[in-house]
Amino acid sequence: MKRKKYIAGNWKMNTTLQEGLDLAKAIKQDHQAGKSLHVSTLLFPPFPFLADIVREVSTSNSIAVGAQNCHHEAKGAFTGEVSAAMLNSIGISHILIGHSERRQYFGETNKQLAQKVQLAIENKLTPVFCIGETLLERENNIHFNTIEKQLQEGIFALSKENFNKVILAYEPVWAIGTGKTASSDQAQEMHAFIRKIVANQYGTEIANSCSILYGGSCNPSNAASLFACLDVDGGLIGGASLVANDFLSIRRAMLALA
Ligand code: PGA
Repeated sequence: MKRKKYIAGNWKMNTTLQEGLDLAKAIKQDHQAGKSLHVSTLLFPPFPFLADIVREVSTSNSIAVGAQNCHHEAKGAFTGEVSAAMLNSIGISHILIGHSERRQYFGETNKQLAQKVQLAIENKLTPVFCIGETLLERENNIHFNTIEKQLQEGIFALSKENFNKVILAYEPVWAIGTGKTASSDQAQEMHAFIRKIVANQYGTEIANSCSILYGGSCNPSNAASLFACLDVDGGLIGGASLVANDFLSIRRAMLALA
């Protein structure tokens, strides 16, 4: 079965408005020239620029804009926070949930992530649900348990119908921003494991149609070998997504295989 392929750019807390617009414009221009619709592009800019970036890419039907986070409650007295409904109201279609930086620096728990996933679905946002083990967990050989627990507690409360809308992203914490990428064998092994756990929960049909992206120091020189793995359906790119040429060359690596 042919699964949907994605190249996603997580800009994190980077860019000014003008830098973000320039980046989005360069990506849009390349998409118009390429006319390739087999691979969807997802951009995750910082909150203040979302509406502008949505407008900037609105004429491209293969680029969607997502948010990097939302609050786990629907609305109310949570000063400084952003709700899933707000994001939906400005044309956002996707949302990162469970990124390791949110788990690590902001103490987000699997329980909160499960609430966020539910709110995202209710507000027609496609969750890109991130999972990944730390270096210590891998060294102690408990990385599979970690991933299974993150899935069980963070996202498996969803109904079959709703899980079908989700994109997963495997991002080993030790590979994020470190320049240390998982080898193709490590990525394939974990992606196949994730698909098996999803199959146990929701059945093989749903598991086989679920897109699982790889993230963690993915760059133009390692993208092709990572994307060639049977169970890797694209990439969630951090650092390299801030340089238009790098991001586009990673996308071309996926296009060549799609
Ligand atoms: P990186 O980040 O590509 O800079 O390692 C990936 C991510 O955190 O999504």
